[in-house]
Amino acid sequence: MAKTYDVIIIGSGPGGYVCAIKAAQLGLKVAVVEKRPTFGGTCLNVGCIPSKALLSVSEKFHEAKEAFATFGISCGKPKIDVAAMQAFKRSVVEANVKGIAFLFRKNGIDSYQGVGRILEPGRVLVSPENDAQITLEGEAIVIATGSTVAPLPGIDIDEEAILSSTGALDLDRVPKSLAVIGAGVIGLELGSVWRRLGAEVTVIEYLDRILPGMDGEVGKVLQRELKKQGFAFRLGRKVTAAKVMKSGVSLTMVPSAGEGAEETLKAEKVLVAIGRRPFTEGLGLEDIGLETDAQGRIPVDENFETAISGIYAIGDVIAGPMLAHKAEEEGVAVAEILAGLPGEVNHDVIPAVVYTAPEVAAVGQSEEALKEAGVTYKKGNFSFMANGRARAMGQAAGFVKILADAETDRVLGAHIVGPMAGELIHEIAVLMEFGGSAEDLARTCHAHPTLSEAVREAAMAAAYGAPIHS
Ligand code: NAI
Repeated sequence: MAKTYDVIIIGSGPGGYVCAIKAAQLGLKVAVVEKRPTFGGTCLNVGCIPSKALLSVSEKFHEAKEAFATFGISCGKPKIDVAAMQAFKRSVVEANVKGIAFLFRKNGIDSYQGVGRILEPGRVLVSPENDAQITLEGEAIVIATGSTVAPLPGIDIDEEAILSSTGALDLDRVPKSLAVIGAGVIGLELGSVWRRLGAEVTVIEYLDRILPGMDGEVGKVLQRELKKQGFAFRLGRKVTAAKVMKSGVSLTMVPSAGEGAEETLKAEKVLVAIGRRPFTEGLGLEDIGLETDAQGRIPVDENFETAISGIYAIGDVIAGPMLAHKAEEEGVAVAEILAGLPGEVNHDVIPAVVYTAPEVAAVGQSEEALKEAGVTYKKGNFSFMANGRARAMGQAAGFVKILADAETDRVLGAHIVGPMAGELIHEIAVLMEFGGSAEDLARTCHAHPTLSEAVREAAMAAAYGAPIHS
């Protein structure tokens, strides 16, 4: 006898598990199918959460090594115990994945371990690794199977010498040198972890700038700060071959523009971080006639419903930024739609954070995007050098930039490089959700001394052309 549900969700990453909890809260009977032994998907198991644990530890180590003396603290030369650091990381991951299991129990959600395959609308076959297959029946099916590492043609990721993000999170000692292919979010975050712990890090990027998806001014400032930390950059280069040798890897690269000499770079380890692609293997999409686009994404309508009625898709398998919180928003929206409520996502206000030091955060439009769209805008910049709290923390590198419509003063985007940027960005996200202006923010009293004052000052710069403190 097949088990019957209102909704069957395939995948328990941030999209799937949030969708499941919200649907259960709205009174639906929910099943989740997950192929991993633990819940939480890439984000909790081998992505956001473990990387933040390593970033936090390595930042403390770096601070102890480089900044404590300036603060008058002497405690000798710090040493890193990589095994203990990895044990801490595992404990953080374990607590998080167990948290999801607890929330599933609390909300009466049934979970099935195994690969889910859609047999037809309303029916999912679950194939556990060591158990009998079972069939689930449900009014609706939500595909939330996420994404996987994009391969680099001709370069085999063996997770020994040539790593994906998964392997780079799991090293048992600090490599002498690490070559990172791709100056995107993963490359800069994981490059930072191992650089701070002592590896020589060289980042090779196809384009002529780092973080190509983000505002250009932000990329420049971050690159300058990372260089100060000892990062080397080879921009405008593409890797054409990787040869694994006894003592590491030899990479061959050429200028991406085509003209110029071939170069080689030797490194003990290589991290391939050139993006991710939607993961839909095993779902049986071909058999039910559900087509993907050229990038492997599943097309959906404004209600996240695919071309087949009753089958929905959210998160990294559909268009848009591959971000956990974007998937969560879509999960909530689909749960609401299935419960008969209006559910929608404002894709114009999805913050993005890069957890380097200094941190980078953005919401809304970049200057480049506004220029391209022909929007006339005002710009207000404020440097953390002029912020008392940032100086007192010894972290005054970076700035806040607010972009507002030239005519209406409505805030269209904000970009921050600096301490706690990933936290500061949210007051601007809320402002944008309410259609607020730069002057609204400039007139809001902010506590002193806080980093948030820099955000307010940037709003003053945008609204009046003059902040108070610069
Ligand atoms: P990415 O798309 O952020 O960056 C990839 C970089 O590789 C780009 O700069 C691209 O120009 C470059 N590239 C592409 N092909 C290349 C080649 N052949 N040679 C040299 N460079 C090449 O992708 P990344 O860093 O792998 O991250 C994957 C996804 O995971 C992204 O969508 C990202 O948003 C997400 N993510 C988000 C995090 C966060 O929100 N903090 C953390 C980690 C990942």
